[in-house]
Amino acid sequence: MGSIIVITNEKGGVGKTTTAGNLAAAYATMGMRVLAVDMDPQRNLTDLMGISQDTARTHSIADAILEKKGIESFTVQTRTEGIDLIPATPKLREVDRQYGASFEQDKLLNVPFDSPKLDEYDIVIIDTHGSQNCLLTSSLAVAHYYLIPLFPEPDAARGVFDVIEYAERVRNATNRTLTLLGLMVTGFDRRVSVHPRVLQSLRDYGQKWNIRVFNSIIPFSSRVKTAAEQQLLLAGLREDAPVTMAYQSLAGEILPMLKGKRVGRVSQPKLAEIQSSIETFEAMDEVIG
Ligand SMILES: Nc1ncnc2c1ncn2[C@@H]1O[C@H](COP(=O)(O)OP(=O)(O)O)[C@@H](O)[C@H]1O
Ligand SMILES: [Mg+2]
Repeated sequence: MGSIIVITNEKGGVGKTTTAGNLAAAYATMGMRVLAVDMDPQRNLTDLMGISQDTARTHSIADAILEKKGIESFTVQTRTEGIDLIPATPKLREVDRQYGASFEQDKLLNVPFDSPKLDEYDIVIIDTHGSQNCLLTSSLAVAHYYLIPLFPEPDAARGVFDVIEYAERVRNATNRTLTLLGLMVTGFDRRVSVHPRVLQSLRDYGQKWNIRVFNSIIPFSSRVKTAAEQQLLLAGLREDAPVTMAYQSLAGEILPMLKGKRVGRVSQPKLAEIQSSIETFEAMDEVIG
């Protein structure tokens, strides 16, 4: 089985879906077989991959969960060679309502992912909404890794602690292999004076917390919106654009971590220590800001 990576951050609009789609594309370009799974009822990844709601209605992760079936009946080929998708529909909200308080709430993907079809993929990327609900818990419960994208805004670190704490709870309860890949900065614009400063602070604190902040920084680019409006991944607009290349670089930076020993667990500097660091970080932002 390939590596399963959940893209998560409690905050909305921080580039989770853009990262899920374009990281998938970067790995597909390297010749890997990629499965993308849209676990967000808002179904932005499904749109980005150009899959219609008609197709999604008969192939959705919500149906796999509700019918308790393996993923093999629910994957669709996208127009990007090498990427299959299990689309989302608003039915995922029904799943959340139905299972949110049940004892199965962290096991929703166990049956769908117990499928020989999964062995066909080198990498599985799950996009999430970010809310702390059974959809996120179940995604983290079947994953090997999670990745946290963020925009370099002064409040960037806020929320990250909650995500890590939440993932640690899932790790302790059900999934001892779950590992934080790291924080990745996106929407970076060096002309915005606060961005380089926030990036530096994130790096300093990453070092202190023993949390990786990826060297590959995804620049702010109007192409991201243009591509999304056309339901295209970035490479579909221009392969050599800096933002496309930045995602390739990030994919390359992550790859050795997937092959090697799982490192980067957050237990060492204790969570409480991390939290107090975040408070310092925020206090410093007030000075910067
Ligand atoms: N690198 C980037 N440059 C410019 N805009 C971006 C970038 N990444 C994401 N965006 C835009 O920011 C918004 C939120 O991105 P999205 O990936 O949908 O975030 P999330 O899934 O976390 O809600 C979208 O309008 C998207 O087009
Ligand atoms: Mg999204």
